[in-house]
Amino acid sequence: MQKTKMNKISDSRGNLVSLESGKNIPFEIKRIYYLYGLNDEPRGFHAHKKLKQFLFCIHGACSVKLDNGQSETLIHISDPSEGIFLDQLIWHEMYNFSQDCVLMVLADDHYNESDYIRSYDDFKDYIIKERTIE
Ligand code: TYD
Repeated sequence: MQKTKMNKISDSRGNLVSLESGKNIPFEIKRIYYLYGLNDEPRGFHAHKKLKQFLFCIHGACSVKLDNGQSETLIHISDPSEGIFLDQLIWHEMYNFSQDCVLMVLADDHYNESDYIRSYDDFKDYIIKERTIE
């Protein structure tokens, strides 16, 4: 549960980062959404049963807390060439947004509310059930 550095192509004109399904992004991208105009209200506070995502802070900065049910990782993200892989069943919270923060998220499926686990207690229960089935 760490940041992944993407290849950055830089020259005198600036920087370019390319994101490609099956290459540096480990899934087929079906949806892209972005968050901006964020304030001091934290976001996230959910996990996904199946959805895989890759999160980029393409402008500004913020903090991301990841929790796999066993351990927590706190990541500060501000480099647009770094992403955070949000695998399925990772509880995530985002906060400390800079005023200019823009978060871009790539996802492997369309929006589906039934894939969300929005209560931390339900998340813990779900993980215990999954491990029992395995
Ligand atoms: P939500 O998942 O609560 O945002 P965050 O995790 O960033 O706090 O989503 C906010 C609202 O937007 C909620 O009503 C669901 C809706 N939504 C879509 O319609 N499509 C999407 O792709 C996403 C991510 C959210």
